Amino acid sequence: MAPVVARTRAELGAALEHAGRVGFVPTMGALHDGHARLVRHARPIADTLVVSIFVNPTQFGPGEDLDAYPRDLEADLAACAREGVDVVFAPSVEEMYPGGLGTDDDGPVMVDPGPLGRVLEGAARPTHFRGVLTVVAKLFALVRPDVAVFGEKDFQQLALVRRMVRDLALDVEVVGHPVVRETEGLALSSRNAYLDADQRRSALALSRALRAGAEQGPVGLDAVLKAAREVLDDAPGVDVDYLVVTDPLLGPVDDTFEGEARILVAARVGTTRLLDNQTVVLRKGP
Ligand code: PAF
Repeated sequence: MAPVVARTRAELGAALEHAGRVGFVPTMGALHDGHARLVRHARPIADTLVVSIFVNPTQFGPGEDLDAYPRDLEADLAACAREGVDVVFAPSVEEMYPGGLGTDDDGPVMVDPGPLGRVLEGAARPTHFRGVLTVVAKLFALVRPDVAVFGEKDFQQLALVRRMVRDLALDVEVVGHPVVRETEGLALSSRNAYLDADQRRSALALSRALRAGAEQGPVGLDAVLKAAREVLDDAPGVDVDYLVVTDPLLGPVDDTFEGEARILVAARVGTTRLLDNQTVVLRKGP
């Protein structure tokens, strides 16, 4: 059945009047199988399942791909219908930012992500997480979900959303879903649409590097980083921004750390910035 499409806050409110337990998957559209898996995860734990489709301008920095970001509402609605989504919230920019996006002297209240928002992705994209958390907080206020599902591919985003929920006392359960990959390993992302065939082959180096690194977990941190770095260095056209190992909450680890950690990589392939991450179980280095 086709989902109800709500374009305004009032339409969303009406659609959710007798919603029961609300499950929520926030997206920027250009839905792919990764999104479908988030929806399938949320479907059985919700009476009413809401997907938002909103390309949020405040999370794009100057010169980033806001205008080029893929948009295809008809295809997205068809995907939502196939997955049994009940309500699609597809607001305009004016609906989400009624006071405007701001000027240098005046602007909307925004959520400050704190220090965790300034490292890794935040170091490369200084205003990104402020925009992400602001729109997620607004979407939570409008959809009022009991449970919201986010992909682990954007691992730092997920960590920050969890922190925001804790620190701002928001009443929503946040669930992370494992990275969804193509058969050859590439993590699904709407931005993969920018890659040509050669770039797509190069991009496979990210997941290969993570696997190579994770295999060295029993040897220790240095071996993990060395193995992953070698794969990336051998890949043509892959310009690495960062390759790090952190604890599961994105805190630092050193070679005395033991247990579950995370390897994260960000790289540019052509002009496309790609992210990936995976678990690694570390033993103390030699
Ligand atoms: O991950 C995304 O697609 C976006 O950052 C989100 C969470 C929908 C906020 O715009």
